[in-house]
This record gives sequence, structure tokens and C-alpha cells, in this order.
Amino acid sequence: MSVWEKLYSEKVSTLRPSPIREMLHVIRQPGMISFAGGNPDPQSFPVDLFYESASILKEQGKDVLQYGTTEGYPPLKSFLCSWLKPRLGRAIAEDELLITTGSTQVVDLLCWAILDKGDLIITEEPTFVGTTLTMHNHGAQFLTIPCDANGMLVDQLPEKIEKALSQGKRIKFIYTIPNFHNPLGCTMSLERRKKLVEIANKYEIPILEDDPYAYIRFEGEDLPTLFSLDQSGLVVHACTFSKILAPGTRVAWAVGNKEIIRKMAIFKQGIDLCSSVVAQALVYEYCRKGHLDSYLPNIVDHYRKKRDNMEECLKKYLPLEEVSWVKPMGGFFYWLEMKNLKTADLYEKALQKKVAFVPGESFYPNQNGGKNCFRMCFTFASPSDMDEGIKRLGEAMKELLKS
Ligand SMILES: Cc1ncc(COP(=O)(O)O)c(C=O)c1O
Repeated sequence: MSVWEKLYSEKVSTLRPSPIREMLHVIRQPGMISFAGGNPDPQSFPVDLFYESASILKEQGKDVLQYGTTEGYPPLKSFLCSWLKPRLGRAIAEDELLITTGSTQVVDLLCWAILDKGDLIITEEPTFVGTTLTMHNHGAQFLTIPCDANGMLVDQLPEKIEKALSQGKRIKFIYTIPNFHNPLGCTMSLERRKKLVEIANKYEIPILEDDPYAYIRFEGEDLPTLFSLDQSGLVVHACTFSKILAPGTRVAWAVGNKEIIRKMAIFKQGIDLCSSVVAQALVYEYCRKGHLDSYLPNIVDHYRKKRDNMEECLKKYLPLEEVSWVKPMGGFFYWLEMKNLKTADLYEKALQKKVAFVPGESFYPNQNGGKNCFRMCFTFASPSDMDEGIKRLGEAMKELLKS
């Protein structure tokens, strides 16, 4: 036993690596076409416009290179407080907003503030493995609710909540990705949003509304956020610049009742003091110059074309009697479900043909489903890789169906 092994914390015994992060070495093999990671297309990054923002380093370098306040770079906070108004239904006060290092940190901070080992979190099933890993690392257990094309089947909530409570379980929050779900691509209907907020209020269970894809809508009308539908301060809303500007900034935010935001900020003091002030200042300058609003339609148009391209390729190359999907109206992902094939077999075959995707099982927090499903990200691959990659995937499926 090594010295380190003798020292590991109890948490190490349940530590799970992220299946997506762990796949990176596979994805990076020469010739591999990857639909696996949820990466934005680097072609969508506004490199020149963002570079212009670097002027703030010259103009305000003495502030920007200093430690910042934990709650966030004040000019960025005040920009967001008004920019968010249309989606959040009202102007946000500065003490209701916390800038974070990625929206992953919002999940971490909320867990620090309200979750104890063994507590339950209600999630959609399947759901994003990145954030459920964070919850898992805090000792969360998962009560899962299935979804259809209109999002979480919220009607199942009361019975499941009652049952868990009658068993003495503590439910700490409901985690949902209402818009262009990762991995399902679906969006929660207005009726279900209202019902979800009603149920959360009845049982006094907070909601963590994780909304990174809200602004990547290709068609249809925006639906109100859960935050805007709630009157009692039970919704913590998380969003990020990762998909609307660039994930390398690691600038994101949480909005919620000032009491919980304050507790999260105090935990953040002990985690990273503050998010990078340099990154926040560059993002702020980009926003102040109006680039966020003027450039966002280019990103949306770019991804709409990519979504259409993937839809075409799927129809052209996959055996349609075997595989089904719902065309996403926004976001980054397709979720494919197969009738007879097992994802594990397809994954192996696809890797031999140098195509990668994320197997469905990774998105089941209790690791008990998704064995015939997988997630395909449509934003990253170039048009020619998209065509070639899905062609190879179709060949892999057809070969397996014959064998
Ligand atoms: C649903 C969801 N939540 C959170 C994140 C993490 O975002 P960030 O880069 O802000 O940490 C992602 C990124 O893919 C996501 O899909």
C-alpha cells in the first residue's frame, strides 16, 4: 500500500471519474471523428471581437490584475443584472447574483450549502453526467424521474416524494435542465414548468434550474424560466458563458434568493477566493461593447445549420427501422435510441471505425439504464466529418444487425 493509499479520504472510495473526460484520450486518437464531448465549435468563437476586449487590461490593468470580490467583478454583475431581466422576469438585485467558475461550480456550491451525505437529489433520468458527478462527490443519492419529448414527467413527483419522505429520506433539491436537455435534447413544456414549481412549493423543495442552452434556440418561442414562475425564492437559476461565448472563459453565474446566494458565496471564499478577474473583465468588456447580443445570432445560425446537417446525415445513413430520435429545437445534442442493438456493442464497433459517441448508460445517475441509447453532439464535428462519421456509424449498426 502506498503512502497515499493510506491517507485517502473516505470520499475516494466512492470517487467516479467522468466518463466523458476519461474518453478524451480515445477521442484524440488520429483519424477519430468524435460526436462525444459537448464542445462548442471553435469556428463559433468570436476570436477577433474577444481580442478587442483585451484593451481593458491596458486601461484597467491595476484593478483587473488584483484579487477580486468573491461575489464577482462588479461591472459584470451589474451588466448581468439587467441583461438577464427578460429571461428571469424581473431585474435582479446584486445580492441575488453570484459569478462562478463555470456553472459546474453552481452545483458544487449549492451542494456545499445544503447537501449532507446520503441526502436525496431528484433528477431527470437520463441527465448530465458532469453535474451528477459533482453531486455524487458530495455523497448525494438520486431519486430519478423519466422524461418524454416534453421534459420531466412531473406528475410522477408527488408519489415519489411522498414515498421517500415516508422512508425518512431528506430531499434537498430538484435538479432540472429545462431547455434543450443534456443529453435528451428535449424542452420542458410550460404546463410542466408550472406544475413543477407548484410541487416544489408544496413540498418546500428547492429547484436547481441548470440552463446553459437557453439562448441556443433554433426555432419556436422561448418558454418562461422556472425562476420567473416562482414567487417564493425556491429556484436557483444557473447559466454560463460557455455556450454563448466560449467555455475557456469559465465565467458563469447563479441567481437565487439572497440568503442562499450568500451561503454559496461564503463556501466559494474557501474554494477559489474568486473567479478569475481577468476572465470576468474580458467577458464584461465584450458584453459592454454590445458583442454578446450582436454576435449571439451568428452562433445560433451556425449551430442550426449543424443540427440540420446532423438530421440529414442520420436519415441518410442510419437504419431507420432500428434507431429513433427526436429532432432537438436547440442546444447541442441528439439522443438516439435503438430497438435491438446494445450500445456497448455499437460503441466497440464504432471505435474500430474511428467514430466516438457517449454511451447512454453514462447519463443514468443510478447507473441502471440507457443500454440501448447514446448521445451525439452536433456542434463540434466539421460538415465533412459529420457526413463521414455518421456514414461509418450507420455501417457499424448495419454490420451488427447482420451478425
Ligand atoms: C447541462 C449542463 N450543465 C452544466 C454544464 C457545464 O457548464 P460550464 O462550462 O459552465 O461549467 C454543461 C456543459 O456541457 C451542461 O451541459
